[in-house]
Parts: sequence; structure tokens; C-alpha cells
Amino acid sequence: MSLAGQTVVVTGGAGFIGSMLVRLLLDSGATVRVVDNLVNGKHENLADIANDERLTLHLVDIRDTQPLKVLMEDAHIVFNLAVLGVRHSLHSPHENHEVNATATLHMLSAAREVGVGRYVYVSTSEVYGTARTVPMTELHPTFPMTVYGASKLAGECYTRAFWETYRYPTVVVRPFNSYGIRSHHEGDSGEVIPKFLLRCMADKALIIFGDGRQTRDFTFVEDSARGILLAGTSDKAVGETINIGSNHEITINDLADTVKAVVGKANAEIIHDEPRPGDVLRLYADSSKAGKLLGFEPRVTMTEGLQRLKAWYEAQSLSAEELLEAEKVRNWEV
Ligand SMILES: NC(=O)c1ccc[n+]([C@@H]2O[C@H](COP(=O)([O-])OP(=O)(O)OC[C@H]3O[C@@H](n4cnc5c(N)ncnc54)[C@H](O)[C@@H]3O)[C@@H](O)[C@H]2O)c1
Repeated sequence: MSLAGQTVVVTGGAGFIGSMLVRLLLDSGATVRVVDNLVNGKHENLADIANDERLTLHLVDIRDTQPLKVLMEDAHIVFNLAVLGVRHSLHSPHENHEVNATATLHMLSAAREVGVGRYVYVSTSEVYGTARTVPMTELHPTFPMTVYGASKLAGECYTRAFWETYRYPTVVVRPFNSYGIRSHHEGDSGEVIPKFLLRCMADKALIIFGDGRQTRDFTFVEDSARGILLAGTSDKAVGETINIGSNHEITINDLADTVKAVVGKANAEIIHDEPRPGDVLRLYADSSKAGKLLGFEPRVTMTEGLQRLKAWYEAQSLSAEELLEAEKVRNWEV
């Protein structure tokens, strides 16, 4: 698909998934405006593409609708990925809602007013809560367990409402847990896979919150970003809500064993800590709608994805030990 001559706004484009999406958009010929306040995003995430004259970074908070509106004025598509995450929502629920839900509603109105051709809301599998039936299609009930999941559900409901009420062309994408290069290990953004990998590489114990029987459907970030791109650029996706996952379920206990095998440290210690409040116990995607509608298929297996993330860490200037200085173990606590 060619996006040559198209201007695309990506909020959260200096973050983990957003920076991968930006690369795919540039590869497709688009001019990209990244809107990010860098609260969790990083200049480094865009460093190797920063000299591309089609890419600009705008240090704007998405709660500031006016400057955002100006940036959207002649845009063809907006992808809204700016977010405050699940663990942030445990200690700061109101701010989490402001960014994930309220700012989304304001942004939808602004995008419609200035005539952006399409609005893509990147939601999350956390809107489902713990699976009641598996695999989970888009029709699975939504019972989020955290303010993060609830605020993302509000954001996606506003997005669908703009299509239903105004016939403003919107798309909702629900990625399942993503991992891969540029993922977060630090602070309240830290995710299980980067934390496990770095700790294993640094000869530290892998810490599991709860009994480890909770499951996730982990998707490599290139697959997640490609799914988001396909959903945002296909006419068939307008008005739709679409899962993007790997269609494989793994327990956190088995994930820890897989990480140990990939790092080559079979004897690495595993410690079980108290469960994290609001932890979803089961997620297992059915992405067949994305397959049928968009031709999406996940390509990267868990072992390959972990090997690629490990190789990426090994190529960093900081060692695993040094990177872990930014890690917080119970990273939902203030
Ligand atoms: N990472 C996952 O496993 C996962 C899974 C499902 C869905 N998602 C969704 O994908 C999207 C991207 O997530 P991610 O993992 O890349 O997160 P991330 O934290 O790496 O990226 C989010 C970006 O948003 C920016 N941001 C936060 N608040 C902002 C604000 N007020 N104004 C401007 N920018 C702001 C941050 O600086 C960051 O760069 C989110 O919408 C998230 O809900 C992520």
C-alpha cells in the first residue's frame, strides 16, 4: 500500500509501538507528524529516522486540544496511541482517564472539525478483563478490571460513537500485549517480558506477581504495528473494532521458562510475589477478523521475538545491569 503524499499524525509516536508504526508509515511513503509529550516516550526511539525530512516531532500534550488541532489541519489520517498505562492507572486513576478518554473525545471533535480523513483509536485487550470464553473475538464482553482498561474502553466507545452518530470515519484497534525492541523495562511502564529478559541476562531472579498461571497473548511489536497500519489504511476497517494478537496463549510461568531457555540460563531463580491488583487472569486473542478483513497474520514466534529482543539489548551501550537501575519491581506502587 502506498501512502505517498499523505500526511499522518501519530500521537504517542515516540513510544514503544508508536515508534514502530512511524517507521512503517515512512516506509509506505507518508509524511509523519509525531505528537508526544515524552512523558514515557524517548528521542532515542526515533533517533535513527530523525534525519528523515518527512518526520517531525511535536512536543505537545494531547490534552492541549488547540495546538493538536493545528497539527491535524491538513492530515489525512490520525493514529491515536498516546497513553498513560495500566500501572499508572493504579496510582493516578484520574490523570489516566484524562489522557486516555477525555483527551480522546476532544481530539475526535477537533479531527472531525478540521476534516481529518480518518481517526484510528488504538485501544487494548485490557478492555475485555479476564476471558470468560476463549479465544476472544471482538464480541467478547468488555469488563475491564482497571481504570486503564475502563478509560481505554471509554476512548473506544467515543470513537465508535463518532462513526455511528456522525458517520465520521473511525477505526478501533485492540492490540493484545506487545513486546519487542524499544519496549519498556523502566518505572511504571515496565512490562513483564523486558523485565524478565533483562533480569535473566543480569543473573537476577525473575519475579512473578501471583501464581503465574495468568495468561497473555503476546504479539511482537512489528506484528502489532503492521496490524494497526493495515486497520488504519483499509476502507473495510471503517466503523469496525479489530483485535490484533498472535492467537497463542501462554502462562506467565511458561513465559519465564521460555525466557530462561532463550537466555541460556536454565537455573535462573524464579520468585513469586503478591498478585498485582487488577491483574487480568486470562487473555487469548482470536484475530481472525483482522485476517479476513485486512489479510493480517502474525509472523514472529515467541522464541524468535525473544531472541530479537535479547540481541537488541546486547547491542545497547548500557549493560543489562545498568538498564535495570531504572527498573522498579512493584511498579504500580507510588
Ligand atoms: N504495549 C502494549 O502491550 C499494548 C497492548 C495493547 C494496546 N496498547 C496500546 O498501544 C498504544 C501505545 O502503547 P505503548 O505500549 O507504545 O505505550 P508507550 O507508553 O510506549 O507510548 C505512549 C506514548 O504516549 C506518550 N504520551 C503519554 N501521555 C501523553 C500526553 N498526554 N500527550 C502526548 N503524549 C503522551 C508517551 O510519552 C509515550 O511516548 C496505547 O494506546 C496502548 O493503550 C499497548
